[in-house]
Amino acid sequence: MEIFIEATQEKATALAASIVAGSIAKKPDLVLGCATGRTMDRLYACLIEDCQKRGLSFSEVKTFNLDEYIGLAKEDERSYAYYMNQVFFSKTDIQLSNTHILDGMTSDFEAECRQFEAQISVSGGIDLQLLGIGQSGHIGFNEPLSSLGSRTRDKKLMRITREQNKAFFNNNVEEVPESALTMGVGTILDAREILLVATGEHKAEILAKALEGPITAMISATVLQLHPACKVIVDEAAANQLATLEYWKS
Ligand code: F6R
Repeated sequence: MEIFIEATQEKATALAASIVAGSIAKKPDLVLGCATGRTMDRLYACLIEDCQKRGLSFSEVKTFNLDEYIGLAKEDERSYAYYMNQVFFSKTDIQLSNTHILDGMTSDFEAECRQFEAQISVSGGIDLQLLGIGQSGHIGFNEPLSSLGSRTRDKKLMRITREQNKAFFNNNVEEVPESALTMGVGTILDAREILLVATGEHKAEILAKALEGPITAMISATVLQLHPACKVIVDEAAANQLATLEYWKS
């Protein structure tokens, strides 16, 4: 694991975006695992700028999104499918047929998740997986006690996660769906490279536990310690509870 500490959120997300852009430059048909959420907003904005002003092309890139709320259609502006289209895909030259997002309206979760895993395999596996970290320590929506070997499946969301995301649901936690489809921890670990991005003081405590604590299914992000090619990009606010802070800063 390598940890990169940048002074600000802007610098951290710009660095993460430059790593993604560099990977696409090396492999134009990169298979990119995408995340959503506030951390990703700025990162996607940087990639859009690279695409619109600096000739970065997504025309051969394939994407697989980490998760989707159960019960939200892709036309629903609170769904992750809608988010990806609005915030990212529609502003790049990506081919929508190359993008894959779990269908939160499916009546058959198992079949949907099996098919999603099969599509990842057919694409040759995920080259680079983007991750954020939730207050519960989740990656994707792998809430505490998710099996560290889990595959894509449905998962009940913790109250803390629903609280974290209520801003997108009229600030009403009751409106946040109770469950989601998510790549499993094992699915995420299969990616060839992983890029975890965390910014803000509110991430400092869980980030320190995730990166420096014992590996435990109670905090699914701790499993990243096992990955041979995981980069973590943080701002100073998110890094400030790391016991190894000085080591990574120097
Ligand atoms: C979203 C996802 C989540 C978020 C995490 C952080 O697709 O899988 O794991 O990455 O909850 O969210 P933000 O960036 O909003 O703090």
